[in-house]
Amino acid sequence: MRKISAAKLLSYFAWQALALLLAAALWVGALWPLPLGEFRGVALTAGGILLFYLCTILVYRLFLRVVPLRTGVLEEGSKGEFAAQVNALFYLFVFNSLLRSGFIPIPLMRLICRALGARMGANTYSGGLLLDPPLTVLGDHVLVGSHATLFCHTVEGARYELDRIVVGSHVTIGANAILMPGVTVGDGAMISAGAVVPKGTRIGPGEVWGGVPARPLRAAKPKSGWAEEMAPVPDTRPAPSLSPRPLAADYS
Ligand SMILES: CC(C)(COP(=O)(O)OP(=O)(O)OC[C@H]1O[C@@H](n2cnc3c(N)ncnc32)[C@H](O)[C@@H]1OP(=O)(O)O)[C@@H](O)C(=O)NCCC(=O)NCCS
Repeated sequence: MRKISAAKLLSYFAWQALALLLAAALWVGALWPLPLGEFRGVALTAGGILLFYLCTILVYRLFLRVVPLRTGVLEEGSKGEFAAQVNALFYLFVFNSLLRSGFIPIPLMRLICRALGARMGANTYSGGLLLDPPLTVLGDHVLVGSHATLFCHTVEGARYELDRIVVGSHVTIGANAILMPGVTVGDGAMISAGAVVPKGTRIGPGEVWGGVPARPLRAAKPKSGWAEEMAPVPDTRPAPSLSPRPLAADYS
């Protein structure tokens, strides 16, 4: 693993200080004067914690605008490496405590992941862990199963690389599955519980993949077939649309 230099730590702490200042100003200016009744102490503490996370997310989004993440191999000393490592510090110091907490309700987790930059379509939820929300694109009606992990950074010794994960619509990612950087998953595909999908794997529409490393378990059914098979009970409603839209163009 590459060393994180003092300059990057300093940059992170400067952004974090900005978030803290903003949270403190809101706490003193907006929360403190409120008539909070008998549980004033509790409300002020809870409000302070909430403001801290909200302001850190706000400042993080500002950071991503000013210092955008770059995908591809990140050379040592490059701007891309700077952005990626400061980005990582936000997670190591603050956001991982939220994402890994396990007590945040799934619908709220969807909001948090989107606030951190994940693209998530309608009716898409994650019971797992999106380690790099800004580089994660999930279509509509996607389930990321319990404890599945999606990460978009490759750290292998000194090698450091970022790549997006792009998942289409109507995809199920099984419990405890792992998706590595650069994986793309077509509409209607399914990834088994416990699968490890290696870097850059392309899973076609409707395919079922599983195992370690993941391999096709079942080829795509004809379009008229798999949609019915996905439905666990007979359903008289029309089958979900098999969106012909190109994934990357849609969500990038
Ligand atoms: C992959 C999966 C969809 C297959 O289910 P299925 O269509 O009923 O198929 P079967 O159970 O008959 O298995 C088909 C083949 O896949 C293999 N297989 C099934 N689950 C597997 C897994 N997790 N890893 C590796 N291989 C697996 C079976 O051994 C079988 O192989 P074979 O044809 O050589 O005998 C299912 O096992 C699965 O993992 N679903 C994920 C559910 C999930 O985690 N949802 C989210 C919950 S939070």
